[in-house]
Amino acid sequence: MRRHYPVARVLVTRRLPFPSLERLPAAGHDVQTWPGELPPSARELRDAIRDSEGLLCLLTERVDDEVLDAAPHLRAVAVMAVGTDNVDLEACRRRGIPVGNTPGVLTEATADLAFALLLAAARKLPDAAAAIPAGAWLTWEPAAFLGADVHGATLGIVGYGRIGQAVARRANGFDMRVLTTRDTELTALLAAADFVTLHVPLTEATRHLVDTDFLNRMKPTAILVNTSRGGVIDQPALIAALNAKTIAGAALDVTDPEPLPADDPLLNVPNLLVVPHIGSATRSTRARMAELAVDNLLAGLAGEPMPHGVGGTTS
Ligand code: DGY
Repeated sequence: MRRHYPVARVLVTRRLPFPSLERLPAAGHDVQTWPGELPPSARELRDAIRDSEGLLCLLTERVDDEVLDAAPHLRAVAVMAVGTDNVDLEACRRRGIPVGNTPGVLTEATADLAFALLLAAARKLPDAAAAIPAGAWLTWEPAAFLGADVHGATLGIVGYGRIGQAVARRANGFDMRVLTTRDTELTALLAAADFVTLHVPLTEATRHLVDTDFLNRMKPTAILVNTSRGGVIDQPALIAALNAKTIAGAALDVTDPEPLPADDPLLNVPNLLVVPHIGSATRSTRARMAELAVDNLLAGLAGEPMPHGVGGTTS
């Protein structure tokens, strides 16, 4: 049976080159796409959303009380991400606005990136690659770029949801011993792990989970990997720990803030690799994320339960 979609005004906060976006106008919705290369500022978002009934946004937009107050007709919010810390879910719930996210489809790509960061940091790939254009590759060096073994090492996984489990599968292939916060107390995990990888959502409970105490409990030879959210790490504490060699290194896909300014002190510490939040950045993963976001939005606008609703209000 064909679904009936009441026609709605929809705001999409970025130009998204994925075929599933075409399903919004095809369903009769009146789609307005934010034209900028960069996300709308808070004020621009409040202005743009004034008449919208549906919102398809990214993790770059804060959807808070002020935005919701500016959008009296809003009936559905679809975030093209699994993390929804940019959305005030409670404020949406109070207004009866369902919120959807995109779980599952980015699990493997994000786990791939976590493992890529782990390997790159362990084997000093950024420094080794930079040595060549710098003219510093003079001979085969018996004692240069000496990294840490990944095979046989102990991996501590903090947060054992879908992505944490996908990282564990990869670790098994490298003959690693895997400890997780599901089966091991955090302090014991930190004391034993050669690599610690973070896979918790950003909530009030996990904000700055990685603080000075956490870092002091890690081995001085250990490497920290973060593909979750920048706010899970107290960044000044990480900077101090890397400078003091409290830990051996860190590899981050996420920072606080994002984007990280080019002159941020984080970029001047040793043994740190940072990439610009690319965990889910594969062609097929981003297309699937867009597909799920559109599924959620179409369902929400039709007054049906979102296939991937979060925060208690699913329809
Ligand atoms: C998410 O979906 O939350 C990731 O951080 C971006 O893909």
